[in-house]
Amino acid sequence: MDRHAWDDRYRDREWLWTTDANRFVVQETAGLTPGRALDLAAGEGRNAVWLAKQGWEVTAVDFSGVALGRASDLAAREGVTITTVEADLREYTPVVGAFDLVLLSYLHLPPVFFRDVLARASDSLAPGGTLVIIGHDLSNIEQGYGGPQSPEVLYTPDSLVTDLGDLEIVKAEKVDRPYEAEEGTFTAIDALVVARKS
Ligand SMILES: C[S@@+](CC[C@H](N)C(=O)[O-])C[C@H]1O[C@@H](n2cnc3c(N)ncnc32)[C@H](O)[C@@H]1O
Repeated sequence: MDRHAWDDRYRDREWLWTTDANRFVVQETAGLTPGRALDLAAGEGRNAVWLAKQGWEVTAVDFSGVALGRASDLAAREGVTITTVEADLREYTPVVGAFDLVLLSYLHLPPVFFRDVLARASDSLAPGGTLVIIGHDLSNIEQGYGGPQSPEVLYTPDSLVTDLGDLEIVKAEKVDRPYEAEEGTFTAIDALVVARKS
């Protein structure tokens, strides 16, 4: 989907996603010492705002201006400040070595683009910095619920680890995520990777 399609998707609903931070983002970042955080494909800012509330200085990047407007509104509502950057991650290069935490939450791009995003995300980590990636696992199509239905844009913990080069892998696993839909409660299957720059 291009940025216009994402803008239209966000305009269709007051909140496209929940305003609650993703459970795995909370789980994997709660024990870290707050510093500078970069949320790539931040959407409406649920994770960026949660991190800001924990004391992180957050830069939220997305190519949907509509989503980033919501993120700023959410931050104001929660009494915190985040920096928003409207940019296409296929081209955006964050400052090298600048961030103590880099987050990718449900960004799904064809591998040719996604690998480059991962490489730049990794480069933007400060020494000792943490990269958290959470997204729909490949198995989610057959065995899970929701998410993109094109295998090409999905990943697995192993495929992420392969693409992360020389980062130290702290965690790489498939995780279940209960999802409340109108028709009932379903289980979505996510890929979670936590990695650290030595
Ligand atoms: C499924 S949403 C996830 C939003 C947020 N990370 C979250 O977990 O709530 C995917 C986001 O990726 C953004 N996105 C997709 N492709 C992008 C690209 N090439 N550059 C920047 N943002 C992109 C979309 O605008 C959308 O906000």
